Amino acid sequence: MDQKPLRISLDDSPEALRAALSQLREQHKHFVNSELALDLTRGKPATAQLDLSNALLGPIDSHSAGTDLRNYGGLDGLPAAKALCAELLGIAAETAQARLLVGGNSSLSLMHAVVSFANFLGLAGQAWSDEKNQTGQATKILCPSPGYDRHFAICEQLGIEMLVMPLTGQGPDMDALEKAAQDHSVKGIWCVPRFSNPSGEVYSDATVARLAALPKIAANNFLVLWDNAYALHAFHDKAPALASIEHEADKAGTLNQVVQFGSTSKMTFAGSGISYLASSETTKQAFAKHLAKVSIGPDKLNQQRHVNLLKDAATAKAHMRRHAEILAPKFNAVLQALDAGLAGCNMGDWSEPEGGYFVSFDARPGLANKIVALAAEAGVKLTPAGATFPYGRDPEDRNIRLAPSFPALEEVQRAAEVFVNCVQIASLEDALSR
Ligand SMILES: Cc1ncc(COP(=O)(O)O)c(C=O)c1O
Repeated sequence: MDQKPLRISLDDSPEALRAALSQLREQHKHFVNSELALDLTRGKPATAQLDLSNALLGPIDSHSAGTDLRNYGGLDGLPAAKALCAELLGIAAETAQARLLVGGNSSLSLMHAVVSFANFLGLAGQAWSDEKNQTGQATKILCPSPGYDRHFAICEQLGIEMLVMPLTGQGPDMDALEKAAQDHSVKGIWCVPRFSNPSGEVYSDATVARLAALPKIAANNFLVLWDNAYALHAFHDKAPALASIEHEADKAGTLNQVVQFGSTSKMTFAGSGISYLASSETTKQAFAKHLAKVSIGPDKLNQQRHVNLLKDAATAKAHMRRHAEILAPKFNAVLQALDAGLAGCNMGDWSEPEGGYFVSFDARPGLANKIVALAAEAGVKLTPAGATFPYGRDPEDRNIRLAPSFPALEEVQRAAEVFVNCVQIASLEDALSR
């Protein structure tokens, strides 16, 4: 920034607001004329993060534990890869081989397959679409929001109705969920339990236990879709841990209806990682039976490469600390800019995540679209307003997801300054128009 950010609060006098607004507009013009091309849209690892895993590109033995890795087969994944992924997901080692499946490069594909199989073919119980045909009631999924747009896109594509559910900062509002799940046309819930996308929250132990028990009051083919995409993605060692849903579901007797997902997309190569799914042995086998119609087996060479690189949870954790060294300064840059320009100014609230890939910003109601448009004008691309809600509709037009991982640190700093300026302009214009 050429100068310190202007500090103005919506509690200041209308004269002060008008004077500040003209300065902010000048600054905006300056940004526009600078022809910036900055992008805070998607949570992609930066090149320096990808470089941490370049050992994956090295030579590899074609055989492992008597298996020719180059050939077809092994639908469930390599045993060594299962053991590794179990450690990453916190799945008990004794049951890992039976309960876990290691797939290809995308956990999103596994999620799409789980929801499609459950809908059209049946996974844990009757197919949702059959039931819909019998009862005439639309199939529904609970969507704690703001949430991950691609979860919502799966539901939209398959014609599954989405019900927006509130988040509390410690996971979804469980009272609301338990009430909603009593309607047996509700067939599932999306969860991103650690460093949630985009709110950054970590589900509390009590929330994990109540979510594990949810199938007891919900339909008998209801699924808890547990997308633990950011299981190991803390910025520091003291970040809150996540309780084991497997443990809680084992206790509650609901494991057939809990499906966990994860991947190494943001640990190694985002396009060439490995993904994993875990549930009870019964549900995993039902999934594998359907999957056998889709694939003759996964890329075992890549699974072995990951076993060689990440080895075990301790090695993976050390690897993730190196990611954190690259990511944390970028998140700090965003938080510092928000703090410098907006703290105590009544123009919005934001998350202060201890891990994950996003900062979630809530503007004053009705302003998110406007802020995103102003930022675009100034050369800063942001995720479209509304994208973090089902159907792309944020009922209050407030939430904006900031993804600072990919650009260089200086670019993140610049983009955050532009963003703050846009929030100030939109908020002042709104306040003065009343
Ligand atoms: C919550 C969440 N789940 C899944 C994914 C994608 O995972 P994968 O690359 O394994 O398909 C992302 C990527 O941004 C994500 O934020």
